[in-house]
Amino acid sequence: MKELETLKKEFETNIKEIKTEREVDDIYLKYLGKRGIVNKLLAKLATLPSGDKKVAGTEINNLKKGIQRLIENKKLLLTTENIEIGDLTLPGIKPQIGHTHPITQMKKYAEDIFLTMGFEVVDSVEVDNDFNHFETLNFPKGHPARDMWDTFWTKEYLLPIAHTSTMQHRLLKTRKPPFRAIIPGKCFRHEATDTVHEHTFYQIEGMYVSKTASLAELIGVLESFVYTYYGYKIPYKIQPTYFPFVEPGLEMLVEHKLKNGQKKWLELIPAGMIHPNVFKMAGVDPNIYKGFAWAIGLDRLVMLKYGISDIRDFHKGDLRFLQQF
Ligand code: PHE
Repeated sequence: MKELETLKKEFETNIKEIKTEREVDDIYLKYLGKRGIVNKLLAKLATLPSGDKKVAGTEINNLKKGIQRLIENKKLLLTTENIEIGDLTLPGIKPQIGHTHPITQMKKYAEDIFLTMGFEVVDSVEVDNDFNHFETLNFPKGHPARDMWDTFWTKEYLLPIAHTSTMQHRLLKTRKPPFRAIIPGKCFRHEATDTVHEHTFYQIEGMYVSKTASLAELIGVLESFVYTYYGYKIPYKIQPTYFPFVEPGLEMLVEHKLKNGQKKWLELIPAGMIHPNVFKMAGVDPNIYKGFAWAIGLDRLVMLKYGISDIRDFHKGDLRFLQQF
């Protein structure tokens, strides 16, 4: 039928020009809707003589199927085109390949802060001897304060370090004052663990030695550090404490807001002025040089930054915890 042929051609040109899904819906209604062209044609069939009816019926049905197919194709084309539309020069989507541990991330961040203050970054040892760990830090054999660093010993009388202060003597021997350095390291203690104590943890030791180093400077450095690290003037307090290798010894505590709104002080940075005996043992004259030292509890520093309530989460290897950082 000639009429059907023209109709088909007309439809084909119309559908080619279509650019939106909305237009597809319109053309569907126009041709295949209840009152659409195809249904009108089918209605006309009744008026034809029965011989022609069959032929025309098949032709109209073929046309209908053809139109349906083209409409579906067009719909598919438009949806996929929409997906692909975009800037082909954009970089690809990176596959998830994991990331560094939150402690490592924050260690790097803390190092960057001290680097901007002119500190050198030195690696700590992980196993050491009694000499560096106690003797040169003014804990002679049998000194009761050794108990505060209850630690593990090997048969060879070596120990996985219980504090990064074990590096102090080495630095005093190898650096010429004035010098300033930080020494991040992994420490181990024979510890009854709880939410703020863990047998394996990190410290960032700091040392500053010069002719004029003072307690005020020590507090100033620590204050600058915590303000920069937390990004606001976090309330802190300083209280006296005892370590054999410093005189006076002190401790910086920072405010810790608990989930229930309560505030608590968290011991974050033990510190002090380097003891004259520590200088003497390294051959540095305490009448000429002064210095201060500290050890930041890195795990606690990170706990406070992110509101982590249990220090033991760091080493559990639980991906649900780690993937949050
Ligand atoms: N080494 C001490 C500790 O681990 C901390 C400290 C470091 C104190 C430096 C004073 C000076 O507890």
